[in-house]
Amino acid sequence: MDEDAIRGIHRIYIIGCGSAYHVGMAARYVFESLARLPVEVDVASEFRYRNPVLEPDSLALVISQSGETADTLAALRLCKDRGVRTVGIVNVVGSSIAREADATMYTWAGPEIAVATTKAYSTQMAVLNLLGLYFGEVMGTVDYETYTAMIRDILDLPEKLEQVLAQADRIREMAKDFAGRDDVFFIGRNLDYALSLEGSLKLKEISYIHSEAYASGELKHGTISLIEEGTPVIALSTYGPLFDKAMSNVVEVQARGARVLALTTETHREAMLARTDRVLTVPEVEPMLLPQLGVAPLQLLAYYIALER
Ligand code: BG6
Repeated sequence: MDEDAIRGIHRIYIIGCGSAYHVGMAARYVFESLARLPVEVDVASEFRYRNPVLEPDSLALVISQSGETADTLAALRLCKDRGVRTVGIVNVVGSSIAREADATMYTWAGPEIAVATTKAYSTQMAVLNLLGLYFGEVMGTVDYETYTAMIRDILDLPEKLEQVLAQADRIREMAKDFAGRDDVFFIGRNLDYALSLEGSLKLKEISYIHSEAYASGELKHGTISLIEEGTPVIALSTYGPLFDKAMSNVVEVQARGARVLALTTETHREAMLARTDRVLTVPEVEPMLLPQLGVAPLQLLAYYIALER
């Protein structure tokens, strides 16, 4: 797509299943914030059957590790039939989605061995961060400081991820606390909400513990009644601008007796330690890159809980 074609886009649809859908949920914030484009995110199995109103001056980003998931492929075909330009974000070279999309960006993650995908999330997120940043540059909606900070932090991600992984022993210790539980709640706002969806999916997928992800602000509309003495709540609060709101949700669930494990940034570590001693951190990074760091401790937590069980 040349720059004029990109400037002609007025809406983005992001479609996927499972973890790919969760990447889309996080990427929505990236495209809205950097490129100022309206974004709709859908699970492919819903999108394809709801006769969506698709506008021709829009772009569909179709995310799939395998490139063969039937619902995602059907959603791609629907977009094409309705004249919507499609871009596949795909790992498997030469797969159906890669072949049928108008354009494909490969994630080059190598063969996916486990069903509970991990590296697909990170690489899809990386592609969408780059694409969102590029769209922002072309649209003229991203300022120079943010642009250079994003590039710097993208280049620093491997080193920052090493710092996150250095907490593996602590995560393993914390996992013992959660392994005997039947229900776990993940809560977060904004990017942390998108991240909570993936953290929750990983946990149930490999440990067989029931878990739910909630947008923190929605808790009070009914679900809070399920939080009682000892209920594990994994409170995600990496997104700095909403840290105070996240903290108020921690206080809210603790008032009902929840055992809170928090994931926040190093900057907010001390503040969170005042509420709970179970705190994991990610280094400071441009906010849109937070899910790429934040997903790792959640994947490890799910893994260690599964081992414990
Ligand atoms: C599910 C897997 O069956 O398919 C998930 O358990 C995956 O991990 C989802 O995210 C979608 O797969 P794909 O290949 O379309 O990304």
